[in-house]
Amino acid sequence: MGSLVFHMGWCYVVSLFCFSFIFMYAAEDVKAANVSVDNTVFIDGKIPIGKTDSDFICATMDWWPPEKCDYGTCSWDHSSMLNLDLNNIVFLNAIKAFSRLKIRLGGTLQDKVIYQTEDHLQPCIPFAKNSSELFGFTRGCLPLSRWDELNSFSNKSGALIVFGLNALNGRSIQSDNSAVGAWNSTNAASLIRYTVKNGYNIYGWELGNELSGNGVGVRVAADQYASDTIVLHDLIQDIYKGFDVKPKIIAPGGFYEPNWFKRYIDKTGGSINVVTHHIYNLGPGVDEHLIEKILDPSYLDGEADVFRGLQNILKSSATSAVAWVGESGGAYNSGRNHVTNAFVFSFWYLDQLGMASAFDTKTYCRQTLIGGNYGLLNTTTFVPNPDYYSALLWHRLMGTHVLSTNFPGTKKIRAYAHCAKQSQGITLLLINLDGNNTVEAKVDFDGTLVHRHKHRHHRHRSKVIKMPQANEARGKREEYHLTAMDGNIQSQTMLLNGKALTLDSSGAIPPLEPITVTSSEPVRVAPFSIVFVHVPYVALPACK
Ligand SMILES: *[C@@H]1O[C@H](CO)[C@@H](O)[C@H](O)[C@H]1NC(C)=O
Ligand SMILES: *[C@@H]1O[C@H](CO)[C@@H](O)[C@H](O)[C@H]1NC(C)=O
Ligand SMILES: *[C@@H]1O[C@H](CO)[C@@H](O)[C@H](O)[C@H]1NC(C)=O
Ligand SMILES: *[C@@H]1O[C@H](CO)[C@@H](O)[C@H](O)[C@H]1NC(C)=O
Ligand SMILES: *[C@@H]1O[C@H](CO)[C@@H](O)[C@H](O)[C@H]1NC(C)=O
Repeated sequence: MGSLVFHMGWCYVVSLFCFSFIFMYAAEDVKAANVSVDNTVFIDGKIPIGKTDSDFICATMDWWPPEKCDYGTCSWDHSSMLNLDLNNIVFLNAIKAFSRLKIRLGGTLQDKVIYQTEDHLQPCIPFAKNSSELFGFTRGCLPLSRWDELNSFSNKSGALIVFGLNALNGRSIQSDNSAVGAWNSTNAASLIRYTVKNGYNIYGWELGNELSGNGVGVRVAADQYASDTIVLHDLIQDIYKGFDVKPKIIAPGGFYEPNWFKRYIDKTGGSINVVTHHIYNLGPGVDEHLIEKILDPSYLDGEADVFRGLQNILKSSATSAVAWVGESGGAYNSGRNHVTNAFVFSFWYLDQLGMASAFDTKTYCRQTLIGGNYGLLNTTTFVPNPDYYSALLWHRLMGTHVLSTNFPGTKKIRAYAHCAKQSQGITLLLINLDGNNTVEAKVDFDGTLVHRHKHRHHRHRSKVIKMPQANEARGKREEYHLTAMDGNIQSQTMLLNGKALTLDSSGAIPPLEPITVTSSEPVRVAPFSIVFVHVPYVALPACK
């Protein structure tokens, strides 16, 4: 959380008071009365603390064949980019609703894929399960006919495609799991040439998957990876000669490791546009305590170190590259059924989107759009899971400018705010991780947080700049309250303002309608709920 970075000292003092306040209330019978903890959200409207892409939301499609199984269950079915039904109308509607959704095509098996191009004339043989092979499968192949279909789909749906290239091509894998030697770019170059020749738009070419640091399976040294990235950069400059807008060079798509990333970023110089890292901070999908972790504010805060570390490296080096989360599914090995595809996962997901933005992450790719137990869409029916709607609301409501936001009242409320998207004012996101307490939040736009931070040793609470009362009183705001069906946070059905979000018989994505609330009312955040609040009547300097 941005607030933790900027106002730690102040926060601590206030929290002590607030926790004791809550404790007094909690000691009473919570079921009898709707306990309301009256609190204030402080938003610093002076300058944005981060700027995201306007197409911040991204989701992945993977290579896993139906034979991919974890802990005895096989959760991928026909959701691979190689075999998914691209003509499914729900799938098309779900992507079109974003206009435009970024889709990252990649994953573990990408570093074992050969492209069926003109200069690779061997038969195009699919992946086959073999436990003695790296990642449990033999080499696979992308038929050009399928590449045509994927590109035609991207054109039809308006998706922005990031394609992950095989970065192990040409290297030899040693017994200590290091992959040595230079990247052989021949096969990748011919796929890229074919792509350009056919007029297909690719938003970015990404090099490799999870080979950074210690790697997952195998690793490539930072210096080698940097020179391979420069090779990719030169290749793109050459193949896209004469194009005004060239695809982005993206890498390394692996887990953040400070020394490896620092060295890699320093060595790539100006050859890289986007540095991608992956997040699976909840541990393996088999873990029975995932929900406890998701509901634990300190656990969620743990990931801030990674965002901060990468942001500091980018700021302190000469590069103009920006950070993306290139793949994040929360729980690795395909997630966990009834958790990573249920309402409760929106607590984790929206918190991640908020935290990533506050550390200036430009794009966040969710593992997955479809496939495994963590899809935004159900693997077999394509019906949206709760996180799909959370992502869509984020996309529609949260603008590019990120505001420092602080809710000292209780750590069980996660608070994030951005300037509004394509409209006046701001959008506030409040997540209530508490299953018993309703919080009634007031909003204050506080322009003096920096001042307060500098002088925190004096323990002064400096003046809070309130919005003019008359102006506020005239205003109305729009609220989107998200809750789980029947109060069951493991439900796969989400309610928006009390109404279940479902597809109609033609497979159309439902409209996402707010309720209107008078500005003098506090924002009521029900137990285990998420609220987006669009406040149109404020004009903050940060949003100019
Ligand atoms: C699996 O891979 C190993 C190592 O590459 C090979 O020796 C073996 O024949 C393969 N097994 C099958 C069933 O193809
Ligand atoms: C789809 O392809 C057509 C023809 O090449 C092109 O004019 C159009 O801009 C493309 N649309 C998108 C969304 O890429
Ligand atoms: C790179 O791979 C191509 C096949 O795609 C092969 O013909 C070529 O010999 C390889 N180059 C090197 C240096 O190994
Ligand atoms: C997909 O939806 C079906 C029908 O509602 C449900 O039975 C199944 O559990 C869902 N699959 C997953 C992986 O969530
Ligand atoms: C609500 O509070 C009671 C009493 O402290 C506790 O037993 C229960 O688990 C809480 N429920 C939720 C959903 O947090």
